[in-house]
Amino acid sequence: MAGTGKAHLKEKTDARLRVEDLVVEFQAKSGQRVHAVSGISFDILPGETVGIVGESGCGKSTVARAVMHLPQPTSGSVVLDNIDLTELSAEKLRESRVRMQLIFQDPIASLNPRRRVKDLVAEGVSIWNRGDDKARTESRVRELLESVGLDPDTIWNRYPYELSGGQCQRVSIARALMMRPELLICDEILSSLDVSVQSQMLNLLKRTKRELGLSLMFISHDLGVVKNISDRIIVMYLGKVAEVMDVEALDRETIHHPYTDLLLESVPKVTGERVFPGLPGEVQELPSPLNPPSGCRFRTRCPLATALCVEEEPQLEEKARGQFIACHNVASLSK
Ligand SMILES: Nc1ncnc2c1ncn2[C@@H]1O[C@H](COP(=O)(O)OP(=O)(O)O)[C@@H](O)[C@H]1O
Ligand SMILES: [Mg+2]
Repeated sequence: MAGTGKAHLKEKTDARLRVEDLVVEFQAKSGQRVHAVSGISFDILPGETVGIVGESGCGKSTVARAVMHLPQPTSGSVVLDNIDLTELSAEKLRESRVRMQLIFQDPIASLNPRRRVKDLVAEGVSIWNRGDDKARTESRVRELLESVGLDPDTIWNRYPYELSGGQCQRVSIARALMMRPELLICDEILSSLDVSVQSQMLNLLKRTKRELGLSLMFISHDLGVVKNISDRIIVMYLGKVAEVMDVEALDRETIHHPYTDLLLESVPKVTGERVFPGLPGEVQELPSPLNPPSGCRFRTRCPLATALCVEEEPQLEEKARGQFIACHNVASLSK
C-alpha cells in the first residue's frame, strides 16, 4: 500500500470499522463547494479506541456523521464488520446504523426535552424491538442507569432540564448502550463539562468499553483528553489526516507531523479554538475549506514548508514505529 496513503490501515478482515477515501463536500450559500473532508482513510479494531483530534472546523463532526451516513458521504466507503454501508438499501442501512451509536457535544440539546429519563433511555428499544416486554425493558434501563453512575430511583421521572450537564451525558451514554452497539462514536462529549466531571466520564467510558468489548471513536479538539482514552490517535487537519499514531508515541522522544507539534505546544480553549504560540497572527486561523491550499494543506502555517509542499500532497508513510506521518519534510527515524 506504499504511496497510497493507506499504509496505516490494518488487515481488512480485522477491522470493525474501515473508512476509505471518505469525501464530504457541502454546497455553500455562495454556490461554492465546502471541502469539509477530502479523502481520509482509517480503521477501528474490535475493542479499540481511536481518537480523532484537530482544531475546530477541521472536519471531525463531519467524519462522525458520514460514518453514520447522516447524510451519506459524497464519496468513499464505510465498512462496518465487512458490510459496506454505501451499498445498502435504506432499510438495511437503518438496521446497520443501530450498531453504531453517536453521542454529541451538547448534552441537553441532544435529548428530547419533553421526555423523561426512563423513556429517553428506553426509546430506541421501543422503536426497534416492539416485542420486548415492558418489565424486561425497565429492568435493563435501571441496570444501565446504574452502570453509568446514576441512581435510577432519583432520576427515573426527571426531564433533561432537571439534570446537570454531566448527568445528561450519562443518560446519553445509557441511551446509546441500550441499543447494544458495537461502535460508540463520541463527538466532543466532554467539552461542555467541568474538568473533574470530565475525568469521571473518561473513566466511565473506559470501563464500559472494556466490559462490553465496544469499539470507540472518540472525537475531541483537546489532545490531552484524547491521549487519556485512546489506543491510536488520528490528527486531522483541514479535512485530511496529518498523522496516525499509537498513543505511546506521545510519550516517546520522537518525531511528529509539524501540526501535531503545534497541537502539543498550543493551549486549547473550551470553544475548541486554539492559541498557537509559534504562529504569527495572520495564520492563527484555519484556512477556509472553500479554497484549501494546494499540495500540503498545512503548508500555509508550517515552519518547514518548501516549494515541494505547494505542488505535491504528501501521503501518510510510516516514519517511526507506529507513526504514520503525511509530510515531505519529516525524515524517517529508523524503526
Ligand atoms: N451542513 C454544512 N454545510 C456547509 N458547511 C458545513 C456543514 N457542516 C459542516 N460544514 C463546514 O465543514 C467544515 C468542517 O466542520 P465540522 O466537521 O463541524 O468541524 P469540527 O467538528 O472539526 O469542528 C467547517 O468549515 C464547517 O463550517
Ligand atoms: Mg465538531
